Amino acid sequence: MQHILTSDQFSYAQLDDIWKLTERIAAFCNGDRSQPDPELSFYSWDEPGIPFKKLLGTIFCQPSTRTRCSLQAACLRLGGSVVSIDGTEASSLAKGESWEDTIVTLSQYYDVLAIRSGDKHHAKQAAAVSDTPIINCGSGSDEHPTQALLDLYTIRERKPLDGLNIVIFGDIEHARTIKSFKKMIGMYDVNISEFSLLKKRDDPLDDMTQSFKEADVVYITRMQREYHGKEIVEFPGITTHSFTEKTLSLLKEDAIILHPGPVVGEVAAKVKQDPRWVYKQQVKNGMYIRMALLKLLTGHI
Ligand code: NCD
Repeated sequence: MQHILTSDQFSYAQLDDIWKLTERIAAFCNGDRSQPDPELSFYSWDEPGIPFKKLLGTIFCQPSTRTRCSLQAACLRLGGSVVSIDGTEASSLAKGESWEDTIVTLSQYYDVLAIRSGDKHHAKQAAAVSDTPIINCGSGSDEHPTQALLDLYTIRERKPLDGLNIVIFGDIEHARTIKSFKKMIGMYDVNISEFSLLKKRDDPLDDMTQSFKEADVVYITRMQREYHGKEIVEFPGITTHSFTEKTLSLLKEDAIILHPGPVVGEVAAKVKQDPRWVYKQQVKNGMYIRMALLKLLTGHI
């Protein structure tokens, strides 16, 4: 694996390697740390003698809490170090330097570059010129492959990936998490029903009830207003749909609800208290998945 750019770049064997390494990492991190083994300490979970002494550079030109912080935490927990260049203002991009020249430069300093940009071409352009592995942490409204990895990992902890009924309830047209999730889960034998938040409905449940009743997995996103044109933002009625207790009551007992975050009003407060809402587990798994990816990308296995 040279770079992580898109969620359809992985073979089944590569996905299995990622799941297995993530499981080992999660098991180690969740182990009893009250009596730390000096040879297997929190900051170096590997065998003694091969500490992870890598330097991660994060270049985020769009806001991020989960992806940026989980990557930083992942690298630090492995024993590596992180340098963050957040926003474009602090770098010479603000002086008009090209994206490619910026990446060529930064790739001389860091062992891995994690990038997020509103431009859907930036991740691929970066990979074409970088001398160090690139992790695409969000490319415009196009892709977010590490989110798909943690989403599938979270499902796989609870259910086999084949044979699932999946309902996607969100901004289908603009959410990069949905696009990457669909590509990756589409490698398995699943049945997907999609309901766009942008579709005007009197009651969103009218045409969705049966799908929710049969769902094993529900995937929700917020409205991606930053990608909406003026006409969509001003269109009345599209902001009223949310996942309520009424919708929750339709779900099977063992269904799970995924959301990549941030939640911005599309999920009722009560839903977030339900055990089927596995948001916290997703967030934690994001760190474990990214620990595994950092190790695999740098050959630290
Ligand atoms: C998502 C993103 O940035 O695409 N957030 C994340 O990385 N977990 C989803 C979103 O912003 O809606």
